[in-house]
Amino acid sequence: MFRFKPSNRCRCDAVLGAALVFGAVAAAHAAEPSVPYVPTPQEVVERMLEIAKVGPQDYLIDLGSGDGRIVVTAAKKYGARGFGVDLNPVRIKESVENAAKAGVSDRATFLQRNLFETDLSSATVITMYLLPRVNLELRPKLFELKPGTRIVSHDFSMDDWKPDESASLEVRDKYGTGSAAGTSSIYFWIVPARVTGPWQWQLTVGGKPQAYEMVLEQKYQMISGTVRVGGHSIKLQEAKLRGDQISVSFSAEVNGSQLKHEFSGRVAGNTIEGAVKLSGSRTQGQHEWNATRGAKTSWPAGGARLAASIH
Ligand SMILES: C[S@@+](CC[C@H](N)C(=O)[O-])C[C@H]1O[C@@H](n2cnc3c(N)ncnc32)[C@H](O)[C@@H]1O
Repeated sequence: MFRFKPSNRCRCDAVLGAALVFGAVAAAHAAEPSVPYVPTPQEVVERMLEIAKVGPQDYLIDLGSGDGRIVVTAAKKYGARGFGVDLNPVRIKESVENAAKAGVSDRATFLQRNLFETDLSSATVITMYLLPRVNLELRPKLFELKPGTRIVSHDFSMDDWKPDESASLEVRDKYGTGSAAGTSSIYFWIVPARVTGPWQWQLTVGGKPQAYEMVLEQKYQMISGTVRVGGHSIKLQEAKLRGDQISVSFSAEVNGSQLKHEFSGRVAGNTIEGAVKLSGSRTQGQHEWNATRGAKTSWPAGGARLAASIH
């Protein structure tokens, strides 16, 4: 949680923040800031942008952008473009001035706007320093972003949407007041592709066509599932999803001999394109992997559980 000292330069904001923290959640959608202004220390800004691997290809949106330091740094030091939104007109004015001073006004812009009413679809990176309950309120909107979109949050996580990475660092001036050192936490997520459901593909193994069906379950980026091949059902040994990149592996008996399967590919809607490495006593090699998501499974196991696991 934010902790404010009476000497904090944004004491009024702190009072507002405390009131909001302890009650008025509805303010998240009202015209009052739902989070008080506290700047992210510059070294934390830079670490956040490094963890997200921000570069010239990126379009970054800072939700509740304060004095604009995250967007300005992303533009100046990492060559990105983007914008910040903040409800407070004083912050927007400061941000515009800071972008001009840094010489990045063409790549770093600022809008006086409610972050909940902002279209985030152009973002490749979202940054935020809000509050736990605001993060949770935002979570469904963030989870809907393009697979692969990176999200970095200063100090606050997103409950059971576990971060893909996290870090903490000691900072000399935690609240921008010059009076308190502290620890900053950084949480990083990659929006995962939606992979729940039954996937089918064929491979030629030992010269014979072989049909595969895999049923995946998903909770955020955590995936698990079962594969059916040659009349056997096998649990996936490994299953990983990072943005739109998926990899799964299992061993199964195919054509009478045990075969290790290691698949990796890219999910695009209802298709996966990638490669599979097969290793067994009779078969070795690398093949293309093209899977398609079907409407339902051809065997009864998956259906009922799937419906319950869709997010
Ligand atoms: C903790 S400060 C973070 C500032 C900046 N992102 C940084 O890390 O230095 C949160 C900012 O969010 C703004 N804010 C709070 N609720 C907002 C809302 N609903 N829409 C837009 N901005 C909001 C506040 O005015 C404040 O400037």
